[in-house]
Parts: sequence; C-alpha cells; structure tokens
Amino acid sequence: MRAYHLTSFGIEGLRLVETPVPQPGPGEILVDVQALSLNYRDLLVIQGAYNPKLTLPAVPVSDGAGVVAAVGPDVSRVRVGDRVMSHFVADWQDGPYRHEYLGTALGTPGPGLAAEQVVLPETAVLPLPKGYDYAQAATLPIAALTAWSALVTVGQAEAGQTVLTLGTGGVAIFALQLARLMELNVIITSRSDAKLARCRELGATHTINYATRTDWDQAVLELTGGVGVDLTVETAGPGTLDQSMKATRAGGRIALLGALTGRCGAVTTGLILMKRLNIHGIMVDSRRAFEDLVRFVERWNLRPVIDRRYAFDQLPEALRCMEAGEHFGKIVVTR
Ligand SMILES: NC(=O)c1ccc[n+]([C@@H]2O[C@H](COP(=O)([O-])OP(=O)(O)OC[C@H]3O[C@@H](n4cnc5c(N)ncnc54)[C@H](OP(=O)(O)O)[C@@H]3O)[C@@H](O)[C@H]2O)c1
Repeated sequence: MRAYHLTSFGIEGLRLVETPVPQPGPGEILVDVQALSLNYRDLLVIQGAYNPKLTLPAVPVSDGAGVVAAVGPDVSRVRVGDRVMSHFVADWQDGPYRHEYLGTALGTPGPGLAAEQVVLPETAVLPLPKGYDYAQAATLPIAALTAWSALVTVGQAEAGQTVLTLGTGGVAIFALQLARLMELNVIITSRSDAKLARCRELGATHTINYATRTDWDQAVLELTGGVGVDLTVETAGPGTLDQSMKATRAGGRIALLGALTGRCGAVTTGLILMKRLNIHGIMVDSRRAFEDLVRFVERWNLRPVIDRRYAFDQLPEALRCMEAGEHFGKIVVTR
C-alpha cells in the first residue's frame, strides 16, 4: 500500500512511498482509507510549526473516513465492512479533558491518515452519519466537532443569541451552519467579498470584510446596538483576540481555538477583567460529544461545505491550496 511520509519539514518533504500493509493488534482495526479532509493543523504539522521535534519520517493528516478491512483480537465495537470515520483525540472518549489525551491525537503523534490503509484503535472510529459519503464524513472529526465544542459544549449558546466567527475556513463555516440550525444570529468576517456572499447564502445574519473594515470589532458593536455578541468563536488567535474581546458583550464567552495568527502575542488582560469575559480554551472534543454532533447532523440533514476535491496523489497541491487560504469551508482528498 502507499502512504505519504513526511521526510523533512515542508510540503516538499512529503514522499508517496510503498510500505507493507500494517497488521491490527489487540483492540485495533485496519481501515481502507477512502477520503481525507485537511485541517490547518495538518499544515502546521507538515511545516514543523506544530512540533519542531517530531520524529521523521511521519505519516501526517488527522481526519479521514473509510471501510474496515480487518480487525485484530478483542475488537467488539467494529466489524469488517463497517463504514467509519476517525475520532481525532483517540483516547478522549468521555468526561473531562486530560492533557495526556493529546498524545493519542491522530496525524501525529498518533497514526496519520494520509495512507491507503491505517491501523487505528477501535475506539478511534465512529460509524458514518446516515446518508453521508466518505468525503462528507471525513470533514467532521476536527472542524465540525470543534465548532460544536465552541457553540454547544463550551459556548452553551441559546436560540436568539448572537455569535461572531472569524474567517471562512473549515471550523468557521461549520460554526455558521451549526449556529443557524440552533437559531443563533451569526456575524462572520472574511477578507473576501465573494466568500462573504457565500456566507449570506448559508444564512449569515451579517458579514464584515476584515480587510477593508480593519476596525471590524467596531462594526460588530454597530451591528449589536453597542453591546457586542454573546459568543465569539475565535479561530485566529493572538492577532485578533483583543478585537474579539472588544466585540464580545460584558460577561460574554470567547471560545479560543485558533492559531492562524500565531501561538503567542500581547493580550490586553484588562479587557478580560473590566468586561468579566469568559475565555475558554478549546481542544476539539470527546467521542461522546462527537456522537451528539452526529445525531444533530442526522436530525437536520446538515451537509458539509466541500469547496475543493483532490485525488490522493495530489495531496501536496491540496495542502498548497490551504496554505494560500483560497478555500471556503473544507478541502477533501479522495481515492
Ligand atoms: N483548538 C482546536 O481544537 C482546534 C480545532 C480545529 C482548528 N483549530 C485551529 O483553528 C484555526 C482554523 O482552522 P481551520 O482548519 O478552520 O483553518 P482553515 O480552513 O485553513 O481556515 C483558514 C481561514 O481563516 C481565515 N483567516 C486567516 N487569517 C485570519 C485572520 N487574521 N483573521 C480572520 N480570519 C482569518 C481565512 O478566511 P478568509 O479567506 O475568509 O479571510 C482563511 O481562509 C487554525 O488555527 C487551527 O489550527 C483549532
């Protein structure tokens, strides 16, 4: 079978190599991967920004879906022929988050999905939602579950409230879709008017071009009667956090999940105190939360926005598209 090996950091360090089919051990399954979806994390892993000490070669990419080709001893939840999608923080099944769970995250340090076949623990997969194909299912594990975590698990948003989300990438577009189904008002930003027009087609209540309206926090206040939004889904990080805090109402919530502008920077902590803001870090969510999300997706027949599709041997091109930020919603790679 073929797998992508990251032999040195950078997209150009990816090599498509022939390797032996891995054999599932106790509690493990072999999945024939049919589709992958890309997340910004994959780019950070490949660039060496996520973990500069990563041992190479490594198989990247966290999210995928496929069919179970074999099962190891003591596997009880999954059978050969099942159609499954991955669960990113493999050991986080339920209950509170523990930092050590990150050691089991798929796409390094756990197994990567950029392979024709991969061995996973049986606990690291879920059945596909009803009516979903592999490409659609591959978009859910990180982007949709993170948006769910921001809006539901952590955000506890209620119908009629207003949420702000930044940019039009995978997490933000799922946040828009989920929020509209939850009867929330949505303000969304982008550097592109064409992308904002697509957001309005998806039901965005208000849109702001953050490239032409650099004081977009002020624009949010104007749209909310000077009060600010109830919840901000913060996808961009330190470069936008101060403005997000200004755009969020006193006592409101910020689901801080993104690093598009880097992983550290100056923050006006005084704003947090003076506005009694609740800033909550997000690390995707548990398998239990993923099951809740799947039920929601099935109930509302939510369909992911897949903007670009690439073939398996075009993974480097797909990553370059993400690097350029050309996409809207999700990029998938299929076999
Ligand atoms: N903590 C977690 O659990 C978790 C989970 C998933 C993702 N993340 C993080 O969340 C972020 C988004 O991930 P993703 O996979 O959705 O990324 P993505 O699909 O690559 O989205 C990138 C988009 O974000 C927008 N953007 C870029 N810089 C921006 C800025 N300064 N201000 C506002 N918007 C900006 C751009 O949209 P426009 O072209 O429309 O401007 C860009 O196309 C990444 O940092 C990722 O690492 C964290």
